[in-house]
Formats: sequence, structure tokens, C-alpha cells
Amino acid sequence: MNGIFITGTDTGVGKTVVAAGIAAAMRQRGINVGVMKPIHTGCKTRKGKLVPADSLFLARFASADDPIGLITPYIFSEPLAPYAAATGNNVVIDIERIIKSFKILCARHDYVIVEGIGGVMAPITERFYVAGLIKRLKIPALIVTRPELGTINHTMLTIGCLRERKVPVKGIVINYSRRHKNTPAEKSCRKTLGKLSGIPIIAITPYIPDLRIKLSDRTPAFPDPFLKLAYRLFDVGC
Ligand SMILES: Nc1ncnc2c1ncn2[C@@H]1O[C@H](COP(=O)(O)OP(=O)(O)OP(=O)(O)O)[C@@H](O)[C@H]1O
Ligand SMILES: [Mg+2]
Repeated sequence: MNGIFITGTDTGVGKTVVAAGIAAAMRQRGINVGVMKPIHTGCKTRKGKLVPADSLFLARFASADDPIGLITPYIFSEPLAPYAAATGNNVVIDIERIIKSFKILCARHDYVIVEGIGGVMAPITERFYVAGLIKRLKIPALIVTRPELGTINHTMLTIGCLRERKVPVKGIVINYSRRHKNTPAEKSCRKTLGKLSGIPIIAITPYIPDLRIKLSDRTPAFPDPFLKLAYRLFDVGC
């Protein structure tokens, strides 16, 4: 399978923004790229239907026209971890259904970018976590992390969890989902993380002031660092 799994150290770190940036850059290069967000929780209702905002955002940047049910087989309204949201709706998430959808997307596209849900230990079923899903999809992971104090701990925990399951990690992206503050943590995290993890820091993606994930927004242009990130991914063999 040809693709990458965009995971993160937490929810809200910028997985969607980074994944969409990579998708946009690949499209610019003429690559037929597909996207997937296998489970989406916290979805709002519009005209009586649950809307998976991340999935639509990703699909827009990838110019992918796959059915939304294929991109996101499981959609829930509750802003909860997948297992908790599913349990509350008397649903048991079927991993095989997710894998089947992923295989269909792989057949339709040259490359598939999968956005994770929360972090690697977000539960999908009682005994199955996001890390296990990455392993089952047989694609490498890219870790999106924050430039803030606490990021070394969160990133090292994430790497440890993936290494335990022998999931290859292509790299780390340090993403500014908030304005730059020039703190000591911001200034040193690249060097420290690179040295301690031994994993390439593929990009530091800056805060983009006018970027908001809103379905009504006109497609925002991604600035250079996102495009450079995609090119670095090619360099490391994605
Ligand atoms: N580089 C950036 N510049 C500006 N805003 C950003 C950037 N990265 C993320 N954000 C903003 O931060 C918020 C969280 O980002 P995003 O939705 O990509 O996180 P996520 O990891 O995908 O979250 P979730 O776990 O809910 O899927 C969004 O409002 C997004 O617009
Ligand atoms: Mg997201």
C-alpha cells in the first residue's frame, strides 16, 4: 500500500492542516492522491446530516471525489474518543470495514493520506487503539507535534508506542497551531527532539493567521513550508 498515516501527539495539534498541505502539494505535482479519516467524532449536523469537516477539508485539498462514506466510514456527533463515541451509540467499530475502505481508496489513487484520530493511544474498540490501526494499514506514520513545553514527553511517548508495534515513523512535523511566542521550548524543541528520537524533523510548519477550517472558506493557499514538507516526504521515500 502506498500512503502515509498522519498521527499526532494529541487532538488539535494540526493533523488535518498538515495532511491537507501534503495533499495539496502532491496534487500540484500531478499525483493522484486520495485521503481518508477513518473515524470522525465531534461532527456537527447540517440539514439533518452529520458533517465530517476534516474529511471534506482533506478531500478539497486532494481534489478527491470519493464518496464520503469511503473516506470516513464512521461518523459520530459526540466529541469523544472513537470507542467512547461508538459505545454511546451502541456501535462496535469494525476494523475490517476500515481496512476494506482503505484498500478501495488505494486502488483508486496512487497515494493515500490517512489522518488519524487524536493520538496513537486513542481507543477504537475496547482493546484496539489507533497505533494498532496504523500497523494493520501497513503504512508508515508521520507524527505532528506542538512546539510547546511538554512536546518532548508527548512525542517520545508517541514514538515509543509506535516502535513497540514496529510501525515505521517517517518523520516528525513541528506545527504551530498557535502564534509563535519564541519561548525557550520553541527555540530548542527541534534540536532536542531530533537528537533524542533519531527521527528526521521533516518540517516546522508556521502559524498561518488566516487559516481556519471552515467549510464555507474559500480554499486557502498553503504557504511554502507545507509544500517543502511534501517534497521532503518524497525525499524520504513516500
Ligand atoms: N499551521 C497552522 N496555522 C494556523 N492554524 C492552524 C495551524 N495548524 C493548525 N491550526 C488550527 O488549529 C486547529 C487544530 O488544527 P487541526 O484541526 O488540523 O488539528 P487536528 O490534529 O487535525 O485535530 P483533530 O484531532 O480534531 O482532528 C484548527 O483550528 C486549525 O485551523
Ligand atoms: Mg483533524
